[in-house]
Amino acid sequence: MTVQLPGLLDTEAIRKDFPILDRVVHDGKKLVYLDNAATSQKPRQVLDVLNEYYEQHNANVHRGVHVLAEEATALYEGARDKVAAFVNAPSRDEVIFTKNASESLNLVANMLGWADDPYRVDRDTEIVITEMEHHSNIVPWQLLSQRTGAKLKWFGLTDDGRLDLSNIDQVITEKTKVVSFVLVSNILGTLNPVETIVRRAQEVGALVVVDASQAAPHMVLDVQALQADFVAFTGHKMCGPDGIGVLWGRQELLEDLPPFLGGGEMIETVSMHSSTYAPAPHKFEAGTPPIAQAVGLGAAVDYLSAIGMDKIAAHEHAITEYAIKRLLEVPDLRIIGPTTAEDRGAAVSFTLGDIHPHDVGQVLDEQGIAVRVGHHCARPVCLRYGIPATTRASFYLYSTPAEVDALVDGLEHVRNFFG
Ligand code: ALA
Repeated sequence: MTVQLPGLLDTEAIRKDFPILDRVVHDGKKLVYLDNAATSQKPRQVLDVLNEYYEQHNANVHRGVHVLAEEATALYEGARDKVAAFVNAPSRDEVIFTKNASESLNLVANMLGWADDPYRVDRDTEIVITEMEHHSNIVPWQLLSQRTGAKLKWFGLTDDGRLDLSNIDQVITEKTKVVSFVLVSNILGTLNPVETIVRRAQEVGALVVVDASQAAPHMVLDVQALQADFVAFTGHKMCGPDGIGVLWGRQELLEDLPPFLGGGEMIETVSMHSSTYAPAPHKFEAGTPPIAQAVGLGAAVDYLSAIGMDKIAAHEHAITEYAIKRLLEVPDLRIIGPTTAEDRGAAVSFTLGDIHPHDVGQVLDEQGIAVRVGHHCARPVCLRYGIPATTRASFYLYSTPAEVDALVDGLEHVRNFFG
């Protein structure tokens, strides 16, 4: 019986856009792809644009006077326009293309803390993160802390997988220079209360950095509404190719702060003694950029926008609510993270009795069900909850209630298998 839930998209039509979802794996098992927080699948509309780019337009950007160079440049810069519109950036020049969200976050950390840093991150100051960050939003700040002597502090977690902000005024203080936090956790699924954190950060004049890797693919992302200073996300989780990430940053900050990587195309002039830099975004895009990947991301943004991010969010909300309800019916299953669909994204982590998540993942895989197991690059979360790892199912615009049912049946099989 097909389960009908209010708010669902027409997945029958959408799934036709994604050739890989027809894959059959392991002796005729139909693929059930529930690893979307790791990477999303790509629609034909994106694959076709990538193919056409290489077949018809491939050239280096900003460098040539020939037709192909002009076409490639127009497509690359056109992708910047699309991404700027997608996140409601006030200016296209605030959109920097990187390799992935990790590079975007490292870029911010590496703009700060130098001798002439106008924001003065130094040994008398503090950097604030949270215990639910992906390693990509922990390690760059640890490195900045080691380089400058700034103290690294963080918000802890409540038992139900939310940020513990009860001591917000003690964690974010007059000494805080940077507050960097994830909008939606990749392991817990938690959607964090941006307004509360940003309000306090602004009170003390700290820069706000938001890791939106698990938000940009799934909901309306408006960088102006967030009131952040920097927002990082990645293309491959939002129907785009891998090798392309985005850092949005406020114009005046991008003007004030120094580049991280030096090389071609990021300069204005170079002599053997010194160099001056091109204006943003080029100042932060040294070397040949990921051109086809940016063009592919532009196509992904077109694809998602045509469906509507609000509709995608409603679909995922319905699927997640159904998934939580069904998963909680499985004996011995413990959800690690919020157990309601409110203020939450579409990644649901869980443990199953004392069966190791790697065993859970392997038995599910034998049934054609792809989930992720491990610490999901958020090891402090596993330490906080006293578990070595979780199994994580994560949903997207093409996920169906039938796939949730397949997961739940698969978990019954796991339980029987391990007695
Ligand atoms: N950061 C990605 C994940 O959570 C890879 O799976």
